[in-house]
Amino acid sequence: MSTMSKPHLLIDTDPGVDDALAILMAHAHADVAGLSVAAGNVGLGHTVRNARTLVDLLGADTPVFPGCPSPLVRAPDEDAAFVHGLDGFGDVGFPEPAVPAADEAAALALLRLTRERPGELTLVALAPLTNLALALRLDPTLPQRVKRLVVMGGAVTGHGNTGKVPAEFNVGFDPEAAHVVFESFPEFDLVDWEATLRHAFDEAEFDRWLAAGDRRAGFFGQVFGTARAYNAGHGRHGIVAADALAMAVAIDPSIVTRSERRHVAVELDGRLTRGATVVDWAGRLGHPANANVVLDVDQARFAAMVRRALGAG
Ligand code: BDR
Ligand code: CA
Repeated sequence: MSTMSKPHLLIDTDPGVDDALAILMAHAHADVAGLSVAAGNVGLGHTVRNARTLVDLLGADTPVFPGCPSPLVRAPDEDAAFVHGLDGFGDVGFPEPAVPAADEAAALALLRLTRERPGELTLVALAPLTNLALALRLDPTLPQRVKRLVVMGGAVTGHGNTGKVPAEFNVGFDPEAAHVVFESFPEFDLVDWEATLRHAFDEAEFDRWLAAGDRRAGFFGQVFGTARAYNAGHGRHGIVAADALAMAVAIDPSIVTRSERRHVAVELDGRLTRGATVVDWAGRLGHPANANVVLDVDQARFAAMVRRALGAG
């Protein structure tokens, strides 16, 4: 990071516990142009409020743009309240945040901000891709104005984390939106669920960061309870933080130590596979690669980025 200038990020998010950690990282390491908010982990009312709570905590002036309250086509089968808590933030019961949401809809804000700052902003997608898909349908030239797109989504060898076995949550919640985004962007970094599992943090080490950190660590320790208990009860070892990993790649792409450029598509039908990400690993279809599938990152540098975001490093 030291040799790089500070990246400029535009974050689409559905906070969400791991979104919260990612947003803390973004504000510690980058300039954040805005949070466009999606429904996903929990309903839009909660995700917008949680984004505002984070902006309050950080004392930042980051605008919060409310997005679409439902997926593009089909109602979702499930949300992720059972992981993140009914309010998406561990049911701690935070007071009403002071920072208001902006009047502008998320999709319109994505278009406006990228028009105002063409080529400057890295788009970081940490949620179902509904807002991005809407923005792309309104203005298909959006990819030309974005510096990079980093997506947390997919399960590239089919180990999903939803009731639909091969599907990962963000893609499985709104497969049509993911399809629009994957088809429209000529190139994006894909940080999938399986990479997340390979980059979990040691529990005792993470607890030391929480103990050593400042109010951001205190906050994260509070919201993290339900997700931690869920993961421990479901065979997920260590501290799993999907959106934090994607954020690390967005902030500093040189952290990636192994990746493969492949064509990735989304299954929209499928009796057993709706929402699956289908990677053409062998290049048989002849489609140009659209995704840089991130397989490994430098774990020590990832850890250092998280520690600093918690005020512990
Ligand atoms: C993704 O789904 C959500 O529950 C998390 O916030 C993350 O964005 C992981 O599959
Ligand atoms: Ca998320």
